[in-house]
Amino acid sequence: MTKQVLILGASGQIAGHAIQFLLNETTDHLLLFVRHPKKLPVIDDQRETVITGDVLDNNELGSAIAQADVVYANLRNPQIEQQARNIVAAMKQHGVKQLVWISSIGIYDEVPGKFGQWNNEQLGGGQTDSYLGTYRAAADVITASDLDYTIIRPAWLTNKDEVDYEITRRGEDFKGTEVSRKSIGKLVAQVIEQPQKYAQTDLGVNKPGTDGDKPAWY
Ligand SMILES: NC(=O)c1ccc[n+]([C@@H]2O[C@H](COP(=O)([O-])OP(=O)(O)OC[C@H]3O[C@@H](n4cnc5c(N)ncnc54)[C@H](OP(=O)(O)O)[C@@H]3O)[C@@H](O)[C@H]2O)c1
Repeated sequence: MTKQVLILGASGQIAGHAIQFLLNETTDHLLLFVRHPKKLPVIDDQRETVITGDVLDNNELGSAIAQADVVYANLRNPQIEQQARNIVAAMKQHGVKQLVWISSIGIYDEVPGKFGQWNNEQLGGGQTDSYLGTYRAAADVITASDLDYTIIRPAWLTNKDEVDYEITRRGEDFKGTEVSRKSIGKLVAQVIEQPQKYAQTDLGVNKPGTDGDKPAWY
């Protein structure tokens, strides 16, 4: 079935990979929601529609969500919790159930050992107003909803041209230190195509065999 896939933050780097997989492997129509349309590459008018808007503007967000069958949020912002609140409320209002949400390694203090300690030091583990604190608050908004959400917690991101990943579930220790943006894009496309399989899941994602005290480039 061809779906209308709304991509919030469609000019983002992971979103760019997800868009390529969705265009190549599905017949879905993509609604590309961006603050700055000039940041998008060439658009296929048959398959993609650009919507200019800001997730923090409830009117712009609501009219985009009203057109969607599924929402994929690829956002980065200090106001990430407010963004999550706006998205959950608009999805409820318009009866849209599936949400794919990009979050981060470490929001549940799930990273073991020395790498976990380093990760907390870098990203503000234990502080409510830090990167990890705000991303955790946003994830809590989503997991408290009755949406068919999939939260994706990538390890430290690379731009390697590879798809190579493994998954851990919420409650399990995180594995590895890194993963490619392309791998996350591939997983996002799979989640969108198999909503039942991934409904109400919360996934850590890493490249196998990358355990260490820090990502390799540090
Ligand atoms: N770097 C890492 O190692 C790492 C590891 C794990 C998770 N993450 C997280 O993974 C997420 C995705 O990563 P990425 O590399 O794809 O990020 P990215 O390239 O920075 O993309 C984020 C997108 O969000 C958009 N955005 C932010 N606020 C918005 C708003 N209010 N309305 C509409 N769009 C908005 C930005 O648009 P504009 O162009 O308009 O700013 C940008 O296109 C980020 O949250 C990142 O923190 C990163």
